[in-house]
Amino acid sequence: MGKKKDAVKLVPAVPSAGTLDIGIPEPQLKAITEGLARVLADTYTLYLKTHNYHWNVTGPQFSTLHAMFMTQYTEMWAAIDTIAERIRALGAFAPGSYSDFARLATVREATGVPAADAMVAELAADQATVVRTAREVFALAEAADDQPTADLLTERMQVHEKFAWMLRAMLA
Ligand SMILES: [Fe+2]
Repeated sequence: MGKKKDAVKLVPAVPSAGTLDIGIPEPQLKAITEGLARVLADTYTLYLKTHNYHWNVTGPQFSTLHAMFMTQYTEMWAAIDTIAERIRALGAFAPGSYSDFARLATVREATGVPAADAMVAELAADQATVVRTAREVFALAEAADDQPTADLLTERMQVHEKFAWMLRAMLA
């Protein structure tokens, strides 16, 4: 009673050498896990925004956009687990709160209910934002010979580039 529990530190420095000896120096591991936390935050924020627009889109394109948004948020929802667990495999804790995601994300959350075309344009730009974040972290992973992270980020870039294209194509 009365004794305050120690708060769990988010994305702390990775454990000291010896507890996680996988051949990547600690400073590089730290940079990679912090980068993956940003990819996770961007992906989660865009997941939520896409689900929001799935619920709230209106207009003659409703059926098409409602379905397209569902395909995209479902994929992103599955991906966040893989990204978070990669952070854990590299020895750091994964962020998992809205305040952490807001602090770490480059993608901005939805405000209000835009018109359908504005939703599509915004999501297309956000998909490209996630690609750029992933590409930055890919360079860190590649420099550290962290092939599993590079592989994961390659897949993430491919998915987000494809989603960006599909969204842009709706506006043509
Ligand atoms: Fe639904």
